[in-house]
Amino acid sequence: MASKLAAIVMAAGKGTRMKSERPKAITPLLGQPLTSYVLRALEQAGVEPIIVVVGHGAEEVQQALGDTYRYALQTEQLGTGHAVMQAMPHLPPDAAYVLVAAGDSPLVTPEVFRSLYEAARTTDSACVLATALLDDPTGYGRILRNEAGHVIGIVEEKDATPEQKAIHEVCTSFYCFRADALRDALPHLSNQNAQGEYYLTDVIGILAAQGARVTTWQSPDPTLLLGVNNRWELAQAGNALRMRILKQLCMDGITIIDPATTYIEPTVQIGHDTVIEPNTHLRGQTTIGANCTLGPDLYLQDCTVGDNCHLFRSHLVQARIHAEVSVGPFAHIRPGTVLHNGVRVGDFVEIKNVEIGEGTKVLHLTYLGDATIGKGTNIGAGTITCNYDGERKHRTVIGDGVFVGSHATLIAPVTIGDGAYIAAASPINQDVPPESLAIARSYQTVKAGWVRKRRESKHGAGGTEP
Ligand code: UD1
Ligand code: CA
Repeated sequence: MASKLAAIVMAAGKGTRMKSERPKAITPLLGQPLTSYVLRALEQAGVEPIIVVVGHGAEEVQQALGDTYRYALQTEQLGTGHAVMQAMPHLPPDAAYVLVAAGDSPLVTPEVFRSLYEAARTTDSACVLATALLDDPTGYGRILRNEAGHVIGIVEEKDATPEQKAIHEVCTSFYCFRADALRDALPHLSNQNAQGEYYLTDVIGILAAQGARVTTWQSPDPTLLLGVNNRWELAQAGNALRMRILKQLCMDGITIIDPATTYIEPTVQIGHDTVIEPNTHLRGQTTIGANCTLGPDLYLQDCTVGDNCHLFRSHLVQARIHAEVSVGPFAHIRPGTVLHNGVRVGDFVEIKNVEIGEGTKVLHLTYLGDATIGKGTNIGAGTITCNYDGERKHRTVIGDGVFVGSHATLIAPVTIGDGAYIAAASPINQDVPPESLAIARSYQTVKAGWVRKRRESKHGAGGTEP
């Protein structure tokens, strides 16, 4: 877009209806701050600079939204008109048009901003106002028109008469103003209304009364413009955004079996031909390769996964999974875990901060923590690394081609050399050299006929136990 355009995003409000300690602007929505969606849409439309009006929890909001924007401080939240007044001094002097948006409408797309700007220029309007026709307009400002159909103002719900409340065309809080018209109108705002606030919506009435041209733009899809004022609206916006992400993934060559139970955040990337089974959650900085099958019942947060992996019914956080790996069911993979190509992790296995080499198998009932394990090793059922002595953590190092028998207890720090064998049920607290067998358990005694002898001594020959 032309350099003569700037944007103001209003994000200073407390968000009282959210009933939260946290400022509304940074309420998480699919893992991202609510207002960041509006900012991203503006950026994608090429608008620069973007001035964000902050107030309630300003520091926290600014930190969460990042430093690519200009910030204007509204110390007291005296209304949307007052918010825009605080931003005006931050506008570049040569900005001819200014887009104004509420920071609580996360479904907006770059096209909405492009359309508003385009309409403002081509119609030479003092303001293009985005309106929507809603079946239930409750809570929104209503658009007032004269008999000729021209916009003459906006009335807020709380100030509206019953007749005005019956109007279904609403203000969406997306506008494109000619900067000079906005600058001239703002000083005329008053706070003589039901909420005692300076309403930005009153600028429309002021401009119309001056005879300036006010045009409306109606989105083909009114849901793009919906605001989030309470947590039910937050849930609905979350669902709409989620469906948008899932649809795009499907268009990009990913199979999603059941969108209703699939949760994928906008930060996630997925390679082609991957299949997402029901009840799968992919969150944060997660990247998935091609040709994987994920789920059912899978949770991944901040993980990278290579091609051709099969992960299901498991929970993984901050793990790096290479190609051809299988995990599940019922595995818990914790931060710092690296699984190289072809590793197989099975049921009831917990792994934390462990690097596991190519082709190694950890298939049943195992805890591995703070360890390095080589290639082609077999970790038997019930193996435990004892990494914590009550005060400090210690490492276990296991080489390539090792066979760890079932129920081995590896008391760290301990090193097991390449090709070694650990006998089942052995507690190992000394290093095992390569190619050696370590066996650490008391030997079994068999007392032949012991049961029969005991029975006979209790009940006589031929007797049976009661
Ligand atoms: C506003 C509009 C209403 C419209 C609706 C659309 C006004 C007076 N009303 O109502 O006509 O239908 O949006 O979603 O404009 N904010 C500030 N400083 C303030 C007050 C608000 O920065 O002093 C910010 C809020 O953080 C929020 C946005 O402005 O992001 C809108 O405020 P909100 O209180 O949600 O207004 P609505 O009641 O939704
Ligand atoms: Ca709102």
